[in-house]
Amino acid sequence: MGRVAIVTGGTRGIGEAICKRLQRQGHIVIANYAGNEEKARAFTAETGIRAYKWDVGDHEATLEGCARVEAEFGPIDIVVNNAGVTRDGTLHKMSYDDWNEVLRINLGGCFNMAKATFPGMRERGWGRIVNIGSINGQAGQYGQVNYAAAKSGIHGFTKALAQEGAKFGVTVNAIAPGYIDTDMVAAVPPAVLEKIVAKIPVGRLGMAEEIARGVAFLTSENGGFMTGSTMSINGGQHMY
Ligand code: CAA
Repeated sequence: MGRVAIVTGGTRGIGEAICKRLQRQGHIVIANYAGNEEKARAFTAETGIRAYKWDVGDHEATLEGCARVEAEFGPIDIVVNNAGVTRDGTLHKMSYDDWNEVLRINLGGCFNMAKATFPGMRERGWGRIVNIGSINGQAGQYGQVNYAAAKSGIHGFTKALAQEGAKFGVTVNAIAPGYIDTDMVAAVPPAVLEKIVAKIPVGRLGMAEEIARGVAFLTSENGGFMTGSTMSINGGQHMY
């Protein structure tokens, strides 16, 4: 059954693969994006998937953006909180802005999207929320106190909201990707990345599509008994 699904940060990287996969599953997919207009236009031209621009870290903009999507396409039944940024640096070099910005977007974005969509799912008795966490939220990572804290927060957020949604047919799960071949990972200095890849038992970076397949399961009817879980897709880098 086709449902209305929204993927934040949906025009690039992991989000793009999730949008395409959910579209193939027969859903009406909407992508949210924050910055890269050119990429968003190319994405819509290629896929036919409409892209809406707002900053998920902005509470009012998110409520307003989701209301616009619902006015056009109907109630949002599936939310994939994928939007995220990095501002890597060791603590002694990290600014307060770098800390705040990562928490505001990566973790605050999940809260804002849930405020906009969870009450409707609860009333209708069906919903799927998938939050994209990270291996670095599970294991920590040198140079990422902001990102690791935000992603770890996402895992806690997921388990708490899952308890609130369970009796209303709303599942809330997280996926914790390892190092996936995207622009975000490509920004890691090559020498650092080489050492990280050497520690992945499967011996390579993951592909965005490998995360999208996990989302497809969690958002399907078959995923109805799975809630509050974290699906680790990381090539064996962290067995959690
Ligand atoms: N453990 C211990 N020490 C480490 C270390 C580690 N993992 N990594 C680096 N160091 C040490 C270095 O050996 C170096 O020590 P010396 O000065 O004694 O030689 C010192 O720390 C400084 O290291 P850098 O030269 O790397 O410091 P920098 O300030 O230039 O850069 C950094 C710091 C920006 C954090 C850089 O190390 C970096 O980019 N690291 C990668 C962070 C990372 O993995 N980001 C993931 C982005 S992708 C993502 O987040 C998606 C996802 O969900 C997986």
